[in-house]
Amino acid sequence: MFDRLPARVTIYEVGPRDGLQNEARHLPTEDKIAFIDALSASGLPAIEITSFVHPKWIPQLADAGEVAARIQRRPGVVYSALVPNAAGLERALGAGMREVAVFLSASETHNKKNINKTIAETLLAFEDVIGPAQAAGVRVRAYVSTVYGCPFEGDVAIDSVVRLTRELLARGVYQISLGDTIGVANPLQVRRVLTEVLKVAPADTLAMHFHDTRGTALANLTVGLDLGLTVIDSAVGGLGGCPYAPGAAGNVSTEDVVNMLHGMGIETGIDMARLAAAARLVAGHVGHELPSKMLKAYLGDQIRAERKATREREATSTNTNTNTSTNTNTNTNTNTSTSPSTSPSTSTSPSPSPSPSPSPERKERAS
Ligand code: HMG
Ligand code: MG
Repeated sequence: MFDRLPARVTIYEVGPRDGLQNEARHLPTEDKIAFIDALSASGLPAIEITSFVHPKWIPQLADAGEVAARIQRRPGVVYSALVPNAAGLERALGAGMREVAVFLSASETHNKKNINKTIAETLLAFEDVIGPAQAAGVRVRAYVSTVYGCPFEGDVAIDSVVRLTRELLARGVYQISLGDTIGVANPLQVRRVLTEVLKVAPADTLAMHFHDTRGTALANLTVGLDLGLTVIDSAVGGLGGCPYAPGAAGNVSTEDVVNMLHGMGIETGIDMARLAAAARLVAGHVGHELPSKMLKAYLGDQIRAERKATREREATSTNTNTNTSTNTNTNTNTNTSTSPSTSPSTSTSPSPSPSPSPSPERKERAS
């Protein structure tokens, strides 16, 4: 294992959509826009910003059009949104989207509950989305959900995943993201499923989408990387987890993935400090601590660095005071005490939640 790892991986950030669609607190549009703009500044190559589904089902993203129209689009960054049908595509095109993603499940019951259609009806309805989107110059991605297990049916046949992958590619989507919707996959299973899927789809047409419900997402990702996949969906902070479904969890955290990849010598183009800034911004808005392990470690390092810098400043200031009291010809004390700190600071961040410890709201909900 690990003898054919890629040099570079594309991170497809899904926090503003997959994360926020599952948060109990509905963010104001302004906060979503600021969050997405902060993500854009981190070097992320692709961001799924919202979803043009029925607002009755996903009220958290009812402002999709306004968000899409008002974010700052950085050249080189792909901005995408979920679109379930022709009505969703019309809204997405109206808001200026240049990439959209269709979605269906590998298990019938989940598909029916999620989009109110059978799998066959869904594939048929995609004809009203994929062709017209492409005719408008819009790229189409696709998700297959419940690839590794269904909350209603349990095991899912690999054949169903393989068949849908083949069907979707034949319909013209450029990439298929294989979703572990409920976070049940394990590395051996991932190898079994991907080995079969790779018989009908080249590795560069596939993406990995793991929810980290049971803590296996990073291990699962390494298997996909070793099989040649180079696109990973993740959510900053590990955002998400449905408040109405006990035990549900968000996507694998972008910080955790980026930290692991960089440690393995795999490039992402992402700046961890800016990513953490975006995570802290959204943590303040959702009102609870985010589960990302790397985010906690990173903020802990920042706090330690800040304390060390403060101690060093104080020591310098004390020494200088001693010097100036014995040498009236210097003004060093004034200079050192007013010089700006260059050490990482948690207290000057725009985030209302500078500490990695749980916010008061989280403590209330957890109790
Ligand atoms: P439906 O009720 O079957 O739709 O919903 P319909 O075609 O019968 O239309 C009913 C009404 O909805 C009509 O309005 C339509 O105009 C309207 P009326 O005539 O009654 O006034 N309508 C819409 N309005 C706004 N936007 C639209 C739209 N479509 C119809 N796009 C539908 C079907 C798919 C729309 C609905 O079931 C729905 O919105 N579902 C949302 C599902 C969802 O967003 N799930 C979460 C995302 S999937 C996911 O998270 C998994 C993933 O992350 C991968 C993984 O983890 O595995 C991607
Ligand atoms: Mg998902």
